[in-house]
Amino acid sequence: MEIYVIIIIGGAMKLNKKRVAVLTSGGDAPGMNTAIRTIVATGEKKGVEVYGVYEGYKGLVEGNIKKLELNELNEKIAHGGTLLYSARYMEFEREEIRRSAIKNLEDLSIDTLIIIGGDGSFRGGLSLSEMGIQCICIPGTIDNDISSTEYSIGFDTALNTAVQSIDKLKETSNSHVRCNIIELMGRFCGDLSLASGIASGCDLVVTLESGLDKVKLIEDIKKLKNENKRCVTVVVAEKLINIHELSEEVERETGYKTNPVVLGHIQRGGAPTAFDRILATKMGVTAMQIATSTKFNRCIGIKNNIIKIYDIREALNIRKEKNILYDIYEELAI
Ligand code: F6P
Repeated sequence: MEIYVIIIIGGAMKLNKKRVAVLTSGGDAPGMNTAIRTIVATGEKKGVEVYGVYEGYKGLVEGNIKKLELNELNEKIAHGGTLLYSARYMEFEREEIRRSAIKNLEDLSIDTLIIIGGDGSFRGGLSLSEMGIQCICIPGTIDNDISSTEYSIGFDTALNTAVQSIDKLKETSNSHVRCNIIELMGRFCGDLSLASGIASGCDLVVTLESGLDKVKLIEDIKKLKNENKRCVTVVVAEKLINIHELSEEVERETGYKTNPVVLGHIQRGGAPTAFDRILATKMGVTAMQIATSTKFNRCIGIKNNIIKIYDIREALNIRKEKNILYDIYEELAI
């Protein structure tokens, strides 16, 4: 089945294949390429032309938009990063800037835009949708900080990367006598730190949600020292404290040689895990189902392994639930 749209130019009627554009925005996340490939592959089946917008909203405003071909994308399913590149572009908050973005889409007869990114990117989509462009948002961020979905594309890969790195650190630290204070990404969300800490059997995890009680943290580490633990591992979510200063204090107070380790952008790279590829595929297929339906301005999520579809504004107003892993952590805590 091919989907056509009627275009009227100067009174003359023209039939065009439906055209959809896709962009990735904000921090890249492994699995974004899988979602892009899925959108193009589904588009080919549905007779919809898919255009790629390069460098997110910046490219949308600059008109950096090209038709995507499936045969150039097939191998990208296994690659991290984003083949469409990404950018953080605060200028998009300005209405006149968004108008040039809309003009670029209209010039190419594109009426639907699929946005893969975090909640800042969704807000850009909401503003565009209020100006008449049909927008569909797919959650893609390692932070897992989007409240309308249990998992965002990229989180599982980043989690595996963090766990593998912590496992390695623990091995070397156990050969000596060490304490590691490891800072993980997540922006203002502790999901990546909490899940990584539990999966790698860390002694302590501190996030913005749990709060940091420095006195208790140091007491807990001293307790482990008194139990002759050779290797102590503490995960600290980013934006909470300077872990270099914290490590100096821990070393001074506990006697453990203490290494501050900022895992940094390594967490954002790497081939997407099978979980992220399947999630990205489900969400990409759903996005194209929405694009070819009469629904407008939707945001895709997943809960209990079932795909959910929300209105974008409704999705942005959902409050993030407390991660149930905090209860599990409490059961294990020192
Ligand atoms: O949103 C993804 C993320 O990696 C966050 O975890 C982190 O706070 C931020 O992006 C880093 O952004 P940048 O790469 O622009 O420094």
